[in-house]
Amino acid sequence: MLKVINVVGARPNFMKVAPIVAAMKRREREFTPLVVHTGQHYDAAMSDAFFADLDLPEPDVYLGVGSASHAAQTAAVMERFEPVLNKEKPDWVLVVGDVNSTLACALVCVKLGVKVAHVEAGLRSRDRTMPEEINRLLTDQIADLLFTPSADADQNLIAEGIPAERIRLVGNVMIDSLYKHLERARRSQIKNQLGLTQNSYAVLTLHRPSNVDDPATFGRILEALESISDRLPIVFPVHPRTRKTIAELGFGERFEKANGLRLIDPLGYLDFLSLYSGARLVLTDSGGIQEETSVLGIPCLTLRDNTERPITQTLGTNKIVGTDPDKIVAADTAALDETAKPTVSIPLWDGHTAERIVAALG
Ligand code: UD1
Repeated sequence: MLKVINVVGARPNFMKVAPIVAAMKRREREFTPLVVHTGQHYDAAMSDAFFADLDLPEPDVYLGVGSASHAAQTAAVMERFEPVLNKEKPDWVLVVGDVNSTLACALVCVKLGVKVAHVEAGLRSRDRTMPEEINRLLTDQIADLLFTPSADADQNLIAEGIPAERIRLVGNVMIDSLYKHLERARRSQIKNQLGLTQNSYAVLTLHRPSNVDDPATFGRILEALESISDRLPIVFPVHPRTRKTIAELGFGERFEKANGLRLIDPLGYLDFLSLYSGARLVLTDSGGIQEETSVLGIPCLTLRDNTERPITQTLGTNKIVGTDPDKIVAADTAALDETAKPTVSIPLWDGHTAERIVAALG
C-alpha cells in the first residue's frame, strides 16, 4: 500500500489533482491518497467552489498559509508542511503546476528524503521575471519523478541535464478534468444568468503581476479591451489580485465607461467551463486556459510576450499577442474573421493522464 500526499495550494492546482486522487481511489488496494491544502488561495470562490465542482475530497490537512510576499508565503508553506511529512511519512508526495506551494512542498520533501513527483514538469517560458518560471525550474531540479504534458517539456528537461529515467511523458492531466466535466458544465445556467448567447461574446482573464501590477502595461491592455468591446461584448471574471489593482491604479472609471466590458466575480470550475466553451474568443494571460481553449478549438489570444506552453501555438488555437493595443486589436479582428472551428488533437491529451501518472507511481 502506497501512501501519497497530494498537494494543492492555488486555484489552478485543483483541476490537476482531482483526477489523480480519483484514479488512486479506483486502485484503493494499492493507494492511500491524502490531500494537503496549503491555503495559498482561501476565498470561497478561489478554493471551496472547486472542491465541490471537481468532486475533490475535502483536504485531510489544511495549512492555512494565506497571502503574503513570495518569501513569507513560501516559508510559511515550508514550515507548516514539514511536521505533516514527519507525521504521515508518505511514500510519495505529488506536487502540481508552478505556484509557490509547488516549490515550497517539493523543497521540504527533498530535505527530508521523501520522494516527490512533479506533475506538469518541463514547461519553460524562458522568462525568469515570472515567479512561476523560477518555481518550475527549481521544482524540476529537485523532484524524483517528472511527469510531462508534451514532448517539448521532455526536451527542456534533458537540455537542463535531467536524466531521462526521471522523466515520464504522460500528457495533460488538466484535460482529464475538462473531458470529465464538460457534460455537467453544459447544464450550468451561467450564460442564461448573464444573458449571453453561444458564440456572441468574448471571455477575458487577467491576473499576471507583469500585466496588472504595472500601470503602463495594464493601461495599454485596457485600451485594447475598450476598442474590442465596442464590437464584441467581453465578460471578465476578475481575479482578486486584479480587482485590487483596478482600484489602486484608478482604472475603475474606465472599466465602468466601457459598456461592452462586463466585470463579474470569479467563477467556479463548471460555470467557467460553460462560459468559455461558449465563447467566440478568449483573451487571457493564464497558462491553463491556453490549453483548455486549444482542446475545445476556441481561438485564444494570450496577452503575454511568451508562453511556457508552445504546443498550444503549434497544435492548438493559441496566439501570443503581447500587450501592445494595436497588435491585440489586429489579432482580435483576424481571429473573428476566421470562420471554421479548427479541430485540435494533441498527443496524450486524451483524458487518461491521471491513470498513467498513478500507474508510474505504483
Ligand atoms: C497565484 C500563482 C499563479 C497562478 C494564480 C492563479 C504564484 C507565484 N502565483 O497567483 O501562478 O496563476 O495563483 O490564480 O504562486 N487573493 C485573495 N484571495 C485568495 C487568493 C488571493 O484575495 O483566495 C489576493 C490577495 O490579495 C493576494 C493576491 O490575490 O495577495 C495574490 O495572490 P497570490 O496567491 O499571492 O498570487 P496569485 O496572483 O493568485
